Amino acid sequence: EGNKLWGGRFVGNTDPIMEKFNASIAYDQRMWEADIKGSKAYVKALQKAGLVTQNEMEQILTGLDKVFDEWSKGEFKIKPGDEDIHTANERRLKEFIGDPAGKLHTGRSRNDQVATDTRLWLRDAINTLKELALPLISTMVERAAVEIEILCPGYTHMQRAQPIRWSHWILRCILVEFYLNYIFLEVSGAIAGNPFNIDRELLRQELKFDSISINSMDATGQRDFVAEFLFWASMCLTHLSKMAEDLILYSTKEFSFITLTDAYSTGSSLMPQKKNADSLELIRSKAGRVFGRCAGFLMTLKGLPSTYNKDLQEDKEAMFDTYDTVHAVLQVATGVISTLKVNQPAMEGALSPDMLATDLAYHLVRKGMPFREAHSCAGKAVYIAESKNIHLSQITVEDLQTVSPLFDKDVSSVWDYNRSVEQYSAPGGTARSSVTSQIEHFRTWLQAQ
Ligand code: ARG
Repeated sequence: EGNKLWGGRFVGNTDPIMEKFNASIAYDQRMWEADIKGSKAYVKALQKAGLVTQNEMEQILTGLDKVFDEWSKGEFKIKPGDEDIHTANERRLKEFIGDPAGKLHTGRSRNDQVATDTRLWLRDAINTLKELALPLISTMVERAAVEIEILCPGYTHMQRAQPIRWSHWILRCILVEFYLNYIFLEVSGAIAGNPFNIDRELLRQELKFDSISINSMDATGQRDFVAEFLFWASMCLTHLSKMAEDLILYSTKEFSFITLTDAYSTGSSLMPQKKNADSLELIRSKAGRVFGRCAGFLMTLKGLPSTYNKDLQEDKEAMFDTYDTVHAVLQVATGVISTLKVNQPAMEGALSPDMLATDLAYHLVRKGMPFREAHSCAGKAVYIAESKNIHLSQITVEDLQTVSPLFDKDVSSVWDYNRSVEQYSAPGGTARSSVTSQIEHFRTWLQAQ
């Protein structure tokens, strides 16, 4: 087939089913801009190496600008032979400028192009995601600052554990994974390298990469950076999924800790009273989708021989779908978090003296008792309260003294939730001073972005 880039050694046509199976244009056209950028840099290197003349370079650059215009206006027409974005752009360039277009591919292969384009595309994509993550992070940080007074139960194993500041919970959900620092490399050659004295440093500068790859087989044959992106996205959404799960629970009538705004809730077609937290349920679900993309692509990579194999083409849909998913989730999460209402009386009303049993043990520790013994004494006190069907705080001093003679009237100081949270002032704790330094940490980080 004459119109194929690789048609020279072939006779007869590709089976139409194979044609469709092989083609990636349906999805890799999203990299049209990266592909043009890469080609513009490459033609400059070709000119420097004396492989195209100044005039040919200018024709190619002008032609590529025309191709760019068509894509940006949505006017680019994909034709049947356009196997992928690289093929399509080169075909169109040739239609614009004729023969000089045929020189653009000197010394490079699509293996090289696709590796470069994917890196360029992903670099921009990650920057966009970061731009969307920053408002989410700052929304959370500022909520934490405003609502620092509010106490709520902290849970382990979903059982009531200790009183915490609500802000401490919010800050927990912040995605420090956004300290992303990928090193994107520029690549060259199909496998053996580039034979034409191409100035790779020039290419690096043109494409604003940090460094050049040191091995052409590796550069064209690995997609570690895609796999890392997919893993990072999986972790990021796992955190958001966990946050969503907590909030779904907190938004139930039984908890009533928070209320979602109508803008991020949906109703039931049958039960008129329903207001469902679909926004949060979808955020929770997307972690599974993205993790599936990650696992699927790692499975594709496993067992591949070295260098470029067509299997690598599978990276695109995984990468695009993951990007689109994280892109949407970050915005919805920002919307949900910035608009939900916190029900302080419900949160604080949910605290109960049994959550201070640890503090009762600490009270004895402060009087010199070893912690293990103190833990057991506090446990006995819990047992007494439960068998008398009273609150832990309602046990008389006399009853407590049957457990340990160290108990005294001053035990009353234990039954204070504010005092309880304030003792956790070591870095990372739930005391006001510690939560405030966590807030400051994130504010400083946000300012540096
Ligand atoms: N569409 C291909 C991809 O996405 C481009 C590279 C094709 N190279 C090749 N030798 N068939 O991976």
